[in-house]
Amino acid sequence: MMKKVIILVGSPRVNGSTVKIVEQVNEILTRKGMATEIVLLDWLELVPCRGCGSCEDSGECVQKDEMQELWQKVESSDGLVLASPTYYSGVTAQMKMFIDRTGKAKVIWDYKRNLPAGGRFSKGKRAMVISVCGQSGEKWLTGPLTEMRSLLHDLEIPVHSIIKMHGSDVGGGLFEGRPETRIEIVDATERFIDGTEEIALYSKDEKDA
Ligand SMILES: Cc1cc2nc3c(=O)[nH]c(=O)nc-3n(C[C@H](O)[C@H](O)[C@H](O)COP(=O)(O)O)c2cc1C
Repeated sequence: MMKKVIILVGSPRVNGSTVKIVEQVNEILTRKGMATEIVLLDWLELVPCRGCGSCEDSGECVQKDEMQELWQKVESSDGLVLASPTYYSGVTAQMKMFIDRTGKAKVIWDYKRNLPAGGRFSKGKRAMVISVCGQSGEKWLTGPLTEMRSLLHDLEIPVHSIIKMHGSDVGGGLFEGRPETRIEIVDATERFIDGTEEIALYSKDEKDA
């Protein structure tokens, strides 16, 4: 059973569809007894990865902003939710900063230099991924979902649930006259809490290739 869940939101819009979904997920998690925190990445002072490679020697990022504090929050959680809308077939810039900085400092230095795993997050975490796109059709969700799942794959944090919501800019949006949205949010959050099914990004053949 998860005790603490951190939810990282890539959308800069506090009244947007991503936040609306996240609020419902959060309500279910807290009702089931979990401590939660929603972090709007847009509200943090964050800068992008510069690819300088310093972390490959030290395991630490040279850029001193609010990322270090965010990593501590992720470390102290046993559940991690990544939620981002589609911006031009990818995640938002806010989420991309988290993905690149985290992947580089927490994963790449570790296996490139075969150093002890001090930079990694501790084991035993689990994840859920959420993406929303404005147009109708799940194809617009492929990019952002792959980006977020790719980081989680490298972090070795298993994904147990994925929420895919499309058509947020069509008609009345995701909720008006669309009861299936709420049903999917409830079902997906329960799969995350339950944690039995793991949704791997790569098939076994792809992983070995
Ligand atoms: C810069 C930008 C790029 C976008 N690119 C896409 C896109 O490629 N495909 C799509 O379906 N929707 C796209 N959208 C629409 C958003 O995914 C949609 O409005 C979504 O609901 C935004 O999330 P939010 O409501 O949580 O802010 C884009 C929106 C913005 C602002």
